[in-house]
Amino acid sequence: MKQQDRIPTSKIQRASRFVKTGMKVGGNYLKHYAKKAIQQEVSEDELNQDNAEAIYDTLSELKGSALKVVKIFNQYFGKSPLKLYDKFEMRAVNAASIGQVHIAEKDGKKLAVKIQYPGVADSVVSDLNMVKPFAKQMFGWKEKDLGVYFDEVQDMLLEETDYELELERSDYLSKACSHLPNLFFATYYPDYSSKKVITMDWLDAMHMDEFLAGNPTQEVCNKAGQALWDFYNFQVHELKTMHADAHPGNFLFREDGSVGILDFGCVKQLPEDFYQNYFRLLQPGVMDDDEAFRDICLKTSIIYDFDTPEEEKVFMGMFRDALEIVCKPFYGESFDFGDETYFNSIYDYGEQVRQSPIIRKTKAPRGAKDGIYMNRAYFGLYSILNALKAEVKTQSYMPAL
Ligand SMILES: Nc1ncnc2c1ncn2[C@@H]1O[C@H](COP(=O)(O)OP(=O)(O)O)[C@@H](O)[C@H]1O
Ligand SMILES: [Mg+2]
Repeated sequence: MKQQDRIPTSKIQRASRFVKTGMKVGGNYLKHYAKKAIQQEVSEDELNQDNAEAIYDTLSELKGSALKVVKIFNQYFGKSPLKLYDKFEMRAVNAASIGQVHIAEKDGKKLAVKIQYPGVADSVVSDLNMVKPFAKQMFGWKEKDLGVYFDEVQDMLLEETDYELELERSDYLSKACSHLPNLFFATYYPDYSSKKVITMDWLDAMHMDEFLAGNPTQEVCNKAGQALWDFYNFQVHELKTMHADAHPGNFLFREDGSVGILDFGCVKQLPEDFYQNYFRLLQPGVMDDDEAFRDICLKTSIIYDFDTPEEEKVFMGMFRDALEIVCKPFYGESFDFGDETYFNSIYDYGEQVRQSPIIRKTKAPRGAKDGIYMNRAYFGLYSILNALKAEVKTQSYMPAL
């Protein structure tokens, strides 16, 4: 039987948990690629399910007991959750990445209460410090080159443990996006929230797999996909601040194709110079102008001034190829994300990069650190739109240069 109530606190104990999960997740990906290599059908759902189970198993060992939940409420509100709300369900309904979600009720309103596991924030820095030497050794990179990227990840992870900041951002972004069609957001309640607790409306809607299992029509899928596309591109181009965790668990779907947005724990603010450099690439002609393109590559660390001419050529070529693929949806009036040949071209490209000898031996990591979370968010968005097989009008929000 699993020990649900014991939180492993020592660095080594925690490390072994995460390494175990990492190995399991890594193993699942290997399995995935092995199956793909022999041309067998393998669904992303299957993979995600395996990973979710591996992660959940590890987390349930770390998770807080009812007693700890009461303790957290006493610490931050001076009373138990049963006194703070009219009703509070002691059993969590959902596991969150660094916490758990409970259902509560106040003044007849159904609420979601997200509670962070104790000790998570303290362990972010030490957990990352454990990974660093492996990354350095695996690629043979210098500490200072790698440091830029690690700092970015560390900053974002630390922000994710600050629920006061998350509440502020949830409130800001959900209000700033409230005019976008076919989206819905929770109202957030600061008086019932703290550094480790967020109280918001319960959104009654389906996770993507359940939504898709109901066989929604193409029209409904397009509507949901369009809502998500507009949500992301409005944030990027108009707010330059974005929900950077486009993970299926963070969206809830209704039968009519409207989409609820959850989880503003991971929000990326795009610095102006990064934004300008990056989105200049979408302007007609820039990619064909060798000088302009090289300038952008230098400014976004695709190439470095210590590169040989041959390395420059390889890395710029690789970046150009990548851009041609990932920017494709932006070029026409609309784009069909159900197009499997498109997604295969992304995977084939990835494979090509992995096998390139020069790229494998790069002396330093490449790419702008500010792109990490934005690219990841777009990749998540594309994957979700692919799962929805949505056809989307892509010109709604375009770069403001
Ligand atoms: N307001 C809400 N209404 C309904 N379900 C919610 C709500 N907030 C969270 N959940 C459920 O809890 C899960 C985890 O919440 P989330 O905010 O994404 O946590 P984390 O920041 O740890 O990823 C979500 O995937 C969803 O199933
Ligand atoms: Mg989440």
